[in-house]
Amino acid sequence: MSTNKVWVRVCPLEAVPTGRAINVHINNQRCIIARCGDQAYIAQGYCTHMLYALRDSAVKDCLITCSLHGSQFDLRDGSVQSWVTPLTDEIRQRKALRVYETEVRDGVVYVAWNAESAEKVRVRL
Ligand code: FES
Repeated sequence: MSTNKVWVRVCPLEAVPTGRAINVHINNQRCIIARCGDQAYIAQGYCTHMLYALRDSAVKDCLITCSLHGSQFDLRDGSVQSWVTPLTDEIRQRKALRVYETEVRDGVVYVAWNAESAEKVRVRL
């Protein structure tokens, strides 16, 4: 059984709120989805600092800010834009968020997922 990258329908763009992230479960993997203008981005559901859930974290200018300690990540590529404190930096290395390739087509968000086929991928908001 081989897997390829397939495009999976997630939800209408209008279902994604502006200004905060919400959960989306893709094949039981907890991710977050957030809107940035006419684009939506999907990333892992937990902060890479101390694994705090990113659901409801603030999103502005395509940057998500973790609600627990304030680390900030760019949703377009997952890169760390701000990390907690110099002390913590010595203990925990900065680590980017895992992000998934997304597209908006005709007002619908799609995510690229490794699967046998798009029909085998379960998405739940
Ligand atoms: S758990 Fe997110 S910044 Fe600490």
